Amino acid sequence: MLKNTLLKATQAAADVLRHFFNGEFTVTNKEGLNNPVTEADLAAEKVIMDIIHESFPDHFILSEEAGEIKMDSEYKWIIDPIDGTINFAHGVPICCVSIGLERAGEMMMGAVYNPFLNELFFAQRGFGATLNDKKIQVSRQPDLNKANLVTGFPYTYLNSPNGPLEVFSTLIRKGVPVRRLGSAAIDLCWVAAGRFDAFYEHKLQAWDSAAGFLIVEEAGGKVTDFKGDRYSPYQPHIIASNGLVHDALLKCVNGEAYD
Ligand code: IPD
Ligand code: CA
Ligand code: CA
Repeated sequence: MLKNTLLKATQAAADVLRHFFNGEFTVTNKEGLNNPVTEADLAAEKVIMDIIHESFPDHFILSEEAGEIKMDSEYKWIIDPIDGTINFAHGVPICCVSIGLERAGEMMMGAVYNPFLNELFFAQRGFGATLNDKKIQVSRQPDLNKANLVTGFPYTYLNSPNGPLEVFSTLIRKGVPVRRLGSAAIDLCWVAAGRFDAFYEHKLQAWDSAAGFLIVEEAGGKVTDFKGDRYSPYQPHIIASNGLVHDALLKCVNGEAYD
């Protein structure tokens, strides 16, 4: 029932994305520059919340645009109706619906769907991760200098030592490929699928990573914060990797030399 609701909500929101993509929609700006919310974000969020409410009216919801719908429940749905809104708003088909489901503080299930590539990533804790129903696994690349990496940059720049540009610069100077797709949820799923060896980002929100981090873990990967501690989506920093390049990337984001 929980899985059915999760997948139903994900598919219904994806229909909304398809409907608006490359068409007419209103765009308004949130805090800061270049932090838009489109009519499609709001419409997709509404169908997701309606579907969850229909089956589970007493569950807690945390959603990017609506905020917290607090309930006294051990279940919490964490929703990003469109991850990659800037891409979506410009007709770049690298964006997705992302929904994670937490039970008693543990992420237990997550779905990330990019309707434009027809790629549905799904994981349930303890049962592995899939892409369109086929099992996926992280890569086996052991060497960070030979890795294919992906990152993202926050809209409000983080001016701190070892900030996004410093880490990027270290890797680029070594000749390591670092891609920037514009959707943290897709970045994570592409690590899970072995397309990237690792992803790191300095400033995410819970809805960006809730589903994706579980998908990486269930694909055999490792996800931590920048201290190397167990990942929580309620703090900003993330490193998600195939496990083998994790320690070297951890050193790199902390400004330390690595081999
Ligand atoms: C953004 C994307 C992007 C990341 C930003 C997020 P949004 O989410 O995940 O890749 O770099 O930090 O805010 O705004 O498109 O839902
Ligand atoms: Ca997001
Ligand atoms: Ca979003």
